[in-house]
Amino acid sequence: MAVSNRTNIADEIKSRCNIVDVIGRVVTLKKAGSNYKGLCPFHNEKTPSFVVSEQKQIYTCFGCGATGDVISFVERYYNLDFRGAVEQLAKEYGIELTGAFASNGDKDELYEINRQAARFFYKALRKEDNPAYRYMRGRGISNETLNQFGIGYADDEWTSLTDHLTGMGFEPQKLVELGLCSVSKGRYYDKFRGRVIFPIQNTRGKVIGFGGRVLGDGMPKYLNSSESPVFLKKNNLYGLNLSKDAVVKENEIILVEGYMDVISVYQAGVRNVSASLGTALTENQARLIKRYTKNVVLSYDADDAGQMAAMRGVDILYGEDCKARVLVVSDGKDPDEFIKQHGRQAFLDLVKEAVPYGDFKLNYVKRKYDMDDEQQRIDFLGEAVDILKKMKPVEADIYIKKLSEEYGISERAIRMEYQSENDSGTSSQRIRIHKEQTEKATHNVERTLLKLMLLDEKYEQIPEDVQSLLFKGPAEEAIRRRIQECAGMERPFSMAKLCEELDEDVAAELLQIDEMPVSADKEDEIFHDCIRFVRLEELKRRDEELTSILSIADESTPEEILVKYMEEKIEIQKKINGLGGRS
Ligand code: GTP
Ligand code: MN
Repeated sequence: MAVSNRTNIADEIKSRCNIVDVIGRVVTLKKAGSNYKGLCPFHNEKTPSFVVSEQKQIYTCFGCGATGDVISFVERYYNLDFRGAVEQLAKEYGIELTGAFASNGDKDELYEINRQAARFFYKALRKEDNPAYRYMRGRGISNETLNQFGIGYADDEWTSLTDHLTGMGFEPQKLVELGLCSVSKGRYYDKFRGRVIFPIQNTRGKVIGFGGRVLGDGMPKYLNSSESPVFLKKNNLYGLNLSKDAVVKENEIILVEGYMDVISVYQAGVRNVSASLGTALTENQARLIKRYTKNVVLSYDADDAGQMAAMRGVDILYGEDCKARVLVVSDGKDPDEFIKQHGRQAFLDLVKEAVPYGDFKLNYVKRKYDMDDEQQRIDFLGEAVDILKKMKPVEADIYIKKLSEEYGISERAIRMEYQSENDSGTSSQRIRIHKEQTEKATHNVERTLLKLMLLDEKYEQIPEDVQSLLFKGPAEEAIRRRIQECAGMERPFSMAKLCEELDEDVAAELLQIDEMPVSADKEDEIFHDCIRFVRLEELKRRDEELTSILSIADESTPEEILVKYMEEKIEIQKKINGLGGRS
C-alpha cells in the first residue's frame, strides 16, 4: 500500500515493523514476563532497565527515561529525523512511500521518463495512418485537439516503448515504477499496447501519468498508469493544465467523468472543463479546484454509478466550501455524446440549469420513496433531515421551508426532527473520534501559525519546545521552509511566487492557508492560544505515556523509579490544570 501523509505513515510503519525485531537487532533482548528486557543503548548500565513491550509497541528505559515507539527509537538510535527514520524503516520493510515522502531527485528523473514516453506515443500517432489516429478522427476529434492534448498511440508490439526508453539510458526498474512496463520472468514488457494514449499532466505541465483506451470494444476499456511517486490520482484532475485559465475567467469549472468528455467538450469550445480521473472526487482535488474557482458544476453520467459519484462529490465540495451544482444530461448520454449531437449552446443551457447541492441531494433520496404513501413520506422526511443536519444552519433553514412547501409537511414537524439530538455512538467510536479531533485541531493550529507567519515575520519566532512538536507533516514542513526561504521578501507575499517551487498538493494547502480569515488586532492573542494549545496537548500525551510506562513496570522495576514517574505524573496534572485544561 502506498502511504503519503504523516499520520498514515506512522500508523502503517508501526503496524508493519515489530518494535521487538527492530530493537532486537541492536540490543540483546531477553523475555521477561510479557515484556523484553535488555541493556539500554542510550546510557551506560550494567543491569538491564530497558524494557520493550511487544503488546504496546513501545520501549522505555527505567534508568534514563528514554521512551517512545519504533519510529522514535530509530530516530534516536541512528540519529535521524522523523523523515529519515520513516525512510529507513520503509526501505527495510518494503513499505512504499509516495507523495511528499518520496525524494525529489528521484522525482525529476521520473518526470523526464514520462515526458519522453509521452513524446514517443505522440510521434507514433502523428505518423500518418495508424489505428489510434483513425479511431480518434472517427470520433470527431480534430488534428488541433489531438495536438493540444498530446494524444498518442501505443502500438501493439510488446517492447516498443521499453526499447526506446532503455535505449535512452533509463533503468527498466524506473519504467516499472511508473507503470509503463511490467516485468515477467526477468523480461520487461510495455504495459500500454494497442491503445490511444491520453497523457495526464499536472497544472505545472509535467506529465505525471497516462490513460490508455482500447481501439474499439476490448477489455479493459481503459488502463491507467499505476500510482507512483509522481502520480497520485487523488491529487490531480485530467485536463486542468489546459483549462485552468478558462476556469479562472469563467469563475466556474465543469467536472466530467471521462477523458473523452473533457476532450470533446473542450473541442466544442467549452474550455473550463476537467475530469477526476475515473475515481470519485477527493478532498485534495476539491482543494486543487479552489485555487481557481469555488463554483463547480458536476456533469457526471446519468446512470446510477454516475449519480452516486455526484452525491459523494457534492458532499466533498460542500465540505471544502465550494458551491456545487449538478447537471444531468437528459437523454442518458455522456457530455461527449451530448455536445457532439446538440452542440455547445445546448450544453451551456444545461450548465445554466444545473441544480444546487441541496436540491440535488433531496431529489436524489426522494426517488426511492412513493410520496403518495403516508409512511414513505415520513421515512423520506427522516432521510431529508439527515441531509439538512450536514448543512450550515442558514442553508438548512431555507430547505426546511422548501421541504414544507413542496411536500406538505409542516415546518414545525421538520424543525423538531431537525433539532433532535444526534445519536452518540459507541465508546470506541468516541475514542477514535477524539483522536481524530485532536489531530485535526493540531493541524489547524499549524495552519493558523503558518497563516500568522504569512502576515508578520514576528510569528516565525515560535518557542523551541513548541516548535519541536510542530510542522512534521510534509506539506506543512514544506510551507514553513518556503516561508523561511522568503525571509528577504516584502509582505504580503506573492502567492504565485511562493507556490512556484511547491508541489501541487503543497501549493493547494498553502493557498488555503492564505485564505484563512484572521480577525485584525487579534493576531497576538491567537498566536498565544496556539502555543498554549500545543503545550497542553503535549502534556496530555506525556500523561498518557506515563500511564503506559507505569502499566508495564514489574516487580523488578526499582521502587525509586516508579516514584519518579508517579511524581512526574502529578507534576503534569498540575501543569495541565495551570494551563486551564482538564485531563
Ligand atoms: P468512451 O467510452 O471512450 O467515451 O470513454 P469515457 O471517457 O466516456 O469513459 P466512461 O464514461 O466509460 O468512463 C469514465 C472514466 O472512467 C474513463 O474516462 C476512465 O478514466 C475511467 N474508466 C472507464 N473504464 C475504465 C476501466 O475499464 N478501467 C479503468 N481503470 N478506468 C476506467
Ligand atoms: Mn463516453
